[in-house]
Amino acid sequence: MERITTFEQYQQAYKNSVENPEAFWAEQAELFTWRRKWDKTLEWNFNEPDVKWFSGGKLNITENCLDRHLEKRGDQTALIWEPNNPDEAAKKISYKELHSEVCRFANVLKHNGAKKGDRICIYMPMVPELTIAVLACARIGAIHSVVFGGFSFKSLSDRIQDADCNIVITADGGFRGAKDIPLKSVVDEALEICASVKKVIVLKRTHTNVIMKKDRDIWWQEEMEKVSDVCPAETMDSEDTLFILYTSGSTGKPKGVVHTTAGYMVYTDYTFRNVFQYNSGDVFWCTADVGWITGHSYLIYGPLLAGAATLMFEGIPTFPDAGRFWNVIDKHKVNIFYTAPTAIRSLQAMGLDFVKPYKLDSLRVLGSVGEPINEEAWNWYNENIGKKNCPIVDTYWQTETGGMMISAMAGITKTKPGFATLPLPGIQPALVDEKGNELHGNNIEGRLCFKFPWPGIIRTTYGSHERCRETYFNIYKGYYFTGDGCRRDEDGYYRITGRVDDVIKVSGHLLGTAEIENAINEHPDIVESAVVGFPHDIKGWGIYAFVICDNERKDVDNLKSEIIQTVTKYMGPIAKPDKIQIVKGLPKTRSGKIMRRILRKIAENDLANIGDTSTLLDPSVVEEIKIGAVL
Ligand code: WT7
Repeated sequence: MERITTFEQYQQAYKNSVENPEAFWAEQAELFTWRRKWDKTLEWNFNEPDVKWFSGGKLNITENCLDRHLEKRGDQTALIWEPNNPDEAAKKISYKELHSEVCRFANVLKHNGAKKGDRICIYMPMVPELTIAVLACARIGAIHSVVFGGFSFKSLSDRIQDADCNIVITADGGFRGAKDIPLKSVVDEALEICASVKKVIVLKRTHTNVIMKKDRDIWWQEEMEKVSDVCPAETMDSEDTLFILYTSGSTGKPKGVVHTTAGYMVYTDYTFRNVFQYNSGDVFWCTADVGWITGHSYLIYGPLLAGAATLMFEGIPTFPDAGRFWNVIDKHKVNIFYTAPTAIRSLQAMGLDFVKPYKLDSLRVLGSVGEPINEEAWNWYNENIGKKNCPIVDTYWQTETGGMMISAMAGITKTKPGFATLPLPGIQPALVDEKGNELHGNNIEGRLCFKFPWPGIIRTTYGSHERCRETYFNIYKGYYFTGDGCRRDEDGYYRITGRVDDVIKVSGHLLGTAEIENAINEHPDIVESAVVGFPHDIKGWGIYAFVICDNERKDVDNLKSEIIQTVTKYMGPIAKPDKIQIVKGLPKTRSGKIMRRILRKIAENDLANIGDTSTLLDPSVVEEIKIGAVL
């Protein structure tokens, strides 16, 4: 069976996957090219945690993304690239061409000293070479660590250091809307404190002047001339690390989520084909940046494993105007479109005049990802983009899950606005109470966990297995804990209610409050800060910062813009606070912990429900904060 096509088949597959998970996933794994078949389908224990899928198997994921397709669809389009500026020509790259480019760049990496197991940082704009770089790493068994091009030098250097990368792949710059992003100079600044990096490979994209450091920096285009396009794929174990991708947490520095080869491959392929109901020949467009997991799993790996044509867009939804997405859909006859609620809401706010000029009649399936989609946005998407003719799949998952977990299958699962609907085959959700007791039955609300492994599950956090255990597997014994609240309604449908920990989903991006606070505290006049989220019409959540200023600082007129600059410098523009309030003190318990619950209520302007403040060291600070002015 190529894929599930009816709801009854879904129910049957689900039942099989729970009763006999190993047989279920082994059948999926048979679809791939293996150098050596696996010995054991699954070994697991959630206490360590220790999860191994398809152990003993040998393969290379790029052989499955590329070589496997050459005979049947070598001349078909693998990658469609739409540039930032619509006047620049779009590109179409066939499977054959992509294979050749990936092999060539894999040779460039080898030629510059890259070896199996090395960590390679990729900090690039959304151009085809980004996909080529990712796959070239996988081809030679090097571990890619892609860092979103919107992160600042500090975030970049933290990630390079944590993974101890020896090579950085970047570009002179990137085009994003009307702006040029100076990627190379950010890399230069980051590398001042990263001794591990020996080579920087620089793609010429914007043709801005950059400084090339002797013996360290080399041009992509020149290196490609020096090597052949023949590069046999490295043989990898099923459980060899494929990539590291950093994600924010409640505390401290971001965590390097580790995904391994075979399980991730089987899982992204299965979920891609089934959720989107992909048909051979379909054009698929995922608008996420490759710097996020959505870009890894559903712009690169999932679609290429399935032999699809995957569209990559360099620009932003509002350039040159707010009709750009719809223009690109008509231009490339996109059949399946996958985007984030925050993009939908911002385009909805621009009005229908930007939608009307376009036919959108190639669309068959719409997807949503990254945060809860509110009913209003769901309806707008359904009516104006899908013309009430395209099923919407609201796909719930995480960086750590590797692929989609709870989602409708397009046209198969009955949808309800605001609900991710049902778990995919192989996925066993559990809602637990605060003590970790599973809540049974329907019409309940709890914390969302998973009680059985799936092939795409996180294996560890790079450099510290203990951190992985503590964050995901130790809070509720025997479960993987997501950090999300969730409701299961009377039909057994799942609705994600949002994060229950100290991270905020801002425009679909996961940001740690501690990380933002650290960035704010870099401002010389800030003594201490506390960040919480507040509901925001477009972004889902906005950032509200309470800051304590140095006594010396008298004028506060420029403080907001200075803090924004500081955060942009140390983290990146996505973490800019929307609201700032200067306070004299923060609500702390006697043990010194900030009670964010109180600050959240103040940020939401829900002053009536602040609740008990008697356990605070100094309850009077709350009264003061309540009446303070917001910058
Ligand atoms: C968090 C994970 C999913 C890949 C991109 C984000 C939230 C994600 C949904 C959804 C409600 C969602 C959760 C989750 N989230 N998808 N369809 N409905 N919430 O990956 O950055 O690791 O974020 O995004 O809070 O835990 P991520």
